[in-house]
Amino acid sequence: MEILHHFSLKNYNTFGIEAKAEKFIAVHSLAELKSVLEQNKSQKKFILGGGSNMLLTKDIEALVIHIDLKGKKILKEDDDFVWVEGQAGENWHQFVLWNIEQNFGGLENMSLIPGNVGTTPVQNIGAYGAEIKDTFVSCEAMNIETQEMRTFTREECNFGYRESIFKHEVKDQYIITSVVFKLTKQNHKINTSYGDILAELAKNNITTPSLKDVSNAVIAIRKSKLPDPAELGNSGSFFKNPILLKTDFEKIHQNFPEMRFFDISKTEVKVPAGWLIEHAGLKGKRFGDAGIHKNQALVLVNYGGATGQEILDVSKKVQETVFETFGIHIEAEVNII
Ligand code: EPU
Repeated sequence: MEILHHFSLKNYNTFGIEAKAEKFIAVHSLAELKSVLEQNKSQKKFILGGGSNMLLTKDIEALVIHIDLKGKKILKEDDDFVWVEGQAGENWHQFVLWNIEQNFGGLENMSLIPGNVGTTPVQNIGAYGAEIKDTFVSCEAMNIETQEMRTFTREECNFGYRESIFKHEVKDQYIITSVVFKLTKQNHKINTSYGDILAELAKNNITTPSLKDVSNAVIAIRKSKLPDPAELGNSGSFFKNPILLKTDFEKIHQNFPEMRFFDISKTEVKVPAGWLIEHAGLKGKRFGDAGIHKNQALVLVNYGGATGQEILDVSKKVQETVFETFGIHIEAEVNII
């Protein structure tokens, strides 16, 4: 275990932004993590997982601790369910595939989401009608100040749309070290209700899909819309889909009757930010090496040499143009560093 200085983070963030860590260390066990925290008490720290949900706009003047805890195991099982634990540094997609191979159901709709297991609860990741909170049981976390371990139950995590306690009450206080999911061994709740999945399965004449079929359909849909960070730097959805009061939305909808929306409660609707950005004329636009993806307007991309600041400038331009066009404010989902 060695502290590296002026370490390039280019390969540690999916936007592929060149930024330096003043100090950098990768930890591979709880004991290593504990000792790094103990020995660097007064040092400013920055916790880095998979680097898939952040935009680096400057060098990080801190000790960057990269959580590289590996391992997955079955904690217990009964006839119907299995409790699977993944260590924080496991790649999320590989973890999903590992579970599908063993016929453990519940994560398949979240195939191919970039990032690591340990960061999934922070923003309650979700896709194609499933969210982490649906199968999440608990997670273990280390207190950065005291190094004490604490279990967070599902209730304590206070999950919402891309939200959790880790973004609010206990922000920057804990490092998630492992996560437990309760998955099905039989009677899987196959969820194909998200429009695109059924169409994708129909293309392959699949009427009674397996977990693997659903996963493959999600992978095909994601690949057709979302750029692969290995080929084109990006951080998935850059913005959240805005939630509006129905009374406000109805006024806007009168002027833009074709605007897509989803009812989420009696009083609120969610509007797809991708639709707003596309209909504000920005889809596929490029500004230098930063741009708005051509197949999914919610995704900002780095064509190679963009700086974090350039991507941030584009994101502001997108927010301004959407606001000028529709009077709707869209908020970044990605953490701006
Ligand atoms: N749309 C457009 N133009 C676009 C993109 C989308 O008109 O450029 C419209 C679509 O036609 C559709 C609606 O917007 O009617 C919703 O689009 P889509 O199903 O692609 O989903 P999304 O709302 O754009 C969300 C998540 C994604 C997740 C997908 C699928 C957020 C912020 N994003 O995107 O998550 O994969 O649903 O479930 O909630 C991520 O968080 O990184 C991510 C990729």
